[in-house]
Amino acid sequence: MEPCKFFLHVDDGYSYCNTPRIHDGDESSEVEKVDDSEMARNFKTLDEGMGSGNGMTREVSLGGCDGSVLISGSSAERNALPNLGLRGFEVIDDAKTQLESLCPGVVSCADILAVVARDAVDLSNGPSWSVPTGRRDGRISLSSEASNLPSPLDSITVQRQKFADKGLNDQDLVTLVGAHTIGQTDCQFFRYRLYKFTTTGNADPTINQVYLGQLQALCPPNGDGSKRVALDKDSESNFDVSFFKNVRDGNGVLESDQRLWGDSATSSIVRNYAGTIRGLLGLRFNLEFPKSMIKMSSIGVKTGTQGEIRKVCSKVN
Ligand code: HEM
Repeated sequence: MEPCKFFLHVDDGYSYCNTPRIHDGDESSEVEKVDDSEMARNFKTLDEGMGSGNGMTREVSLGGCDGSVLISGSSAERNALPNLGLRGFEVIDDAKTQLESLCPGVVSCADILAVVARDAVDLSNGPSWSVPTGRRDGRISLSSEASNLPSPLDSITVQRQKFADKGLNDQDLVTLVGAHTIGQTDCQFFRYRLYKFTTTGNADPTINQVYLGQLQALCPPNGDGSKRVALDKDSESNFDVSFFKNVRDGNGVLESDQRLWGDSATSSIVRNYAGTIRGLLGLRFNLEFPKSMIKMSSIGVKTGTQGEIRKVCSKVN
């Protein structure tokens, strides 16, 4: 992946490539056509079966939107450690196969990814939005590029820096990480918090004591590190504000999530979303999330003569 070009064409919107601009819900929208039928079905099946659809939301967040994360190969980005949890590449491949038979060389993998991420949220009763399209696919994917991706071990300072490097502020950070209201994580990404975390041999003291016992039962010290645990203990398939309540109450699963409560700027945003009046502030998260997603999914976008429209999402042409 080439270095991201942030806020490309912010003034005049996207400079769409010479492929048709695809409007949301537009009858002529090829990516939406596929999405409405087979892809949405795949999603539901995959979502129910193994939570695959959710992974796509994360993918879009990972360092750029030129589809590089989809390329397979030993040193490619999708094999880098922070990306090993990504699932559902099959959903993208399936959609691409259908689109290629319908209109070869028109819809990029990067655009499919952005639409799939939106649908993962929509299918979880979250907000929906129009995805600006016209991205082209990158031609390079190196696992070394993944080193600037967020890690679940990141402190708030590091998280803030990584987002700021992409032009995303604290509000975007908290809002986007709120995507952890859906989906799951492997025990291996947080188990270290449950045992011998402190120098005195105790668990991470920021974990709620009641929840600590539950997490220890789910992820015993020598148990299966790939066992899946909900990122939002209360409603893992519902896109709501309970993730923020969890963070407020010491029930964040990933260390990076819980650290949002340890900083005055991010904690006030968490508090705001968590709300005290039911429904009222939850609405705000639903409004802010699409805005931050659109902002994030414009990072590193390739247009015009840059990149290519990949024929198969898992490899460059
Ligand atoms: C500081 C930033 C972030 C960190 C450190 C982080 C880390 C993680 C980790 C470790 C997992 C578990 C992966 C696995 O075990 O398979 C995960 C899952 C997930 N992340 Fe993030 N993430 C971040 C930001 C985001 C953003 C910005 C989004 C979307 C806008 C997002 C959406 C998701 C979703 C939907 C899942 C669940 C995937 C599934 O169920 O398979 N994350 N994240």
